[in-house]
Amino acid sequence: MATNRTFTMIKPDAFKAGNSGAILKMIEEAGFKIVAMKATQLTPALAGKFYEVHQERPFYKDLCAYMSSGPIIAAILEKENAVEDFRTLIGATNPANAAEGTIRKIFATSIEANAVHGSDSDENAAIEGSFYFSQTERVG
Ligand code: CMP
Repeated sequence: MATNRTFTMIKPDAFKAGNSGAILKMIEEAGFKIVAMKATQLTPALAGKFYEVHQERPFYKDLCAYMSSGPIIAAILEKENAVEDFRTLIGATNPANAAEGTIRKIFATSIEANAVHGSDSDENAAIEGSFYFSQTERVG
């Protein structure tokens, strides 16, 4: 059964460029409801923990440095079929391969500075949401 929640981060490149509002507008217009949201900044250690599934990948060290380089927005989003629909809305990881009209096509500048994160499964959506938000910090 498709989950109704996913997790996203607006990454440092998009936050710094002042694109958070435009990205959140696209997310809401696509039918996602924000059930938790905060602006924060990861330490390198917390970025390493969040992305620990990638720790053997060659880009891991740079990714952790980049993700802790500036403020981000973390949010839990609700919609029917949330994980899959959100990945369609944001487009491919590499913006060069992202479809026209997707968030990454419009706002991302590279495969690392790719504007937004989106959970890749129901299981990871729950884990990632809990990484940032306690029960009392979210709606429901
Ligand atoms: P995200 O969806 O947040 O998940 C892992 C992140 O690693 C990815 O987005 C990219 O920002 C980053 N990354 C950097 N280089 C690569 C790469 N070669 N392949 C996949 N992800 C990469």
